[in-house]
Amino acid sequence: MDTRLVMNAFESRLKSLKTLAGAHQTFDTDTVPATPHALFEQWFDAAVEAGVSEPQVMTLSTVDADGSPDARSVVLLNMDTKGWHFAANATSPKGRQLTQRPEAAMTFYWPATAQQIRLRGKVRRLSDEACRADFMGRPERSRASILIGRQSEVLNSQDDLRHALHEQLARVTAQPELMSPHWGMYALTPHQVEFWQSDAERRFTRLRYVRVGTGAETGADVSWERSLLWP
Ligand SMILES: Cc1cc2nc3c(=O)[nH]c(=O)nc-3n(C[C@H](O)[C@H](O)[C@H](O)COP(=O)(O)O)c2cc1C
Repeated sequence: MDTRLVMNAFESRLKSLKTLAGAHQTFDTDTVPATPHALFEQWFDAAVEAGVSEPQVMTLSTVDADGSPDARSVVLLNMDTKGWHFAANATSPKGRQLTQRPEAAMTFYWPATAQQIRLRGKVRRLSDEACRADFMGRPERSRASILIGRQSEVLNSQDDLRHALHEQLARVTAQPELMSPHWGMYALTPHQVEFWQSDAERRFTRLRYVRVGTGAETGADVSWERSLLWP
């Protein structure tokens, strides 16, 4: 088979697909709220209203100790003054990366509203109570799966997984209070957040909030400077 021809056919199939086909939203950057938290909530609610599929899923990017990047999808669990929350196993690659280098980026892309939101900031593990509350709020099967650990290790056979799940499910059923010592709730506290809106005439609107102020990350002396960015 001619690999070059196959590549070309694939390339043309890719090019036949429309990108940013969603309904472009009006984005008046003169009337935005003072914090990115408030704008995020506005955009999120509008995205749900517009039927964006799973808007709570985003890409979480981290770096290895040696600086090499890594990224994967995770679910946004909350957003408050501490930041944007997600849950992960501390022994997973992302968990270890966050222990070694507690900083990350998050990227949301919402096709139906043709919007992207990007955040960068420090990540910290939340309190033991918060980790416990998240873990205990999950269904038994999910808790059993977390208790297996070993996330992203090589799996030799599906039977090994079935066996491990069966074993942990039995433990969870017998001891409903069982808590994984490695389950973590984390919050990314952004130092910058960018809101990106597509436009029918390709005049994309980009608004970046940058945190200013030297006090505690969640303190009252934190404020945000806003700038437009060239698309
Ligand atoms: C839609 C979706 C949501 C996911 N949500 C989470 C999540 O909230 N937490 C998590 O640890 N993994 C989640 N995963 C699995 C991760 O993408 C990833 O496969 C796993 O956490 C291992 O990542 P790591 O090897 O980088 O640690 C999700 C996957 C998908 C496709």
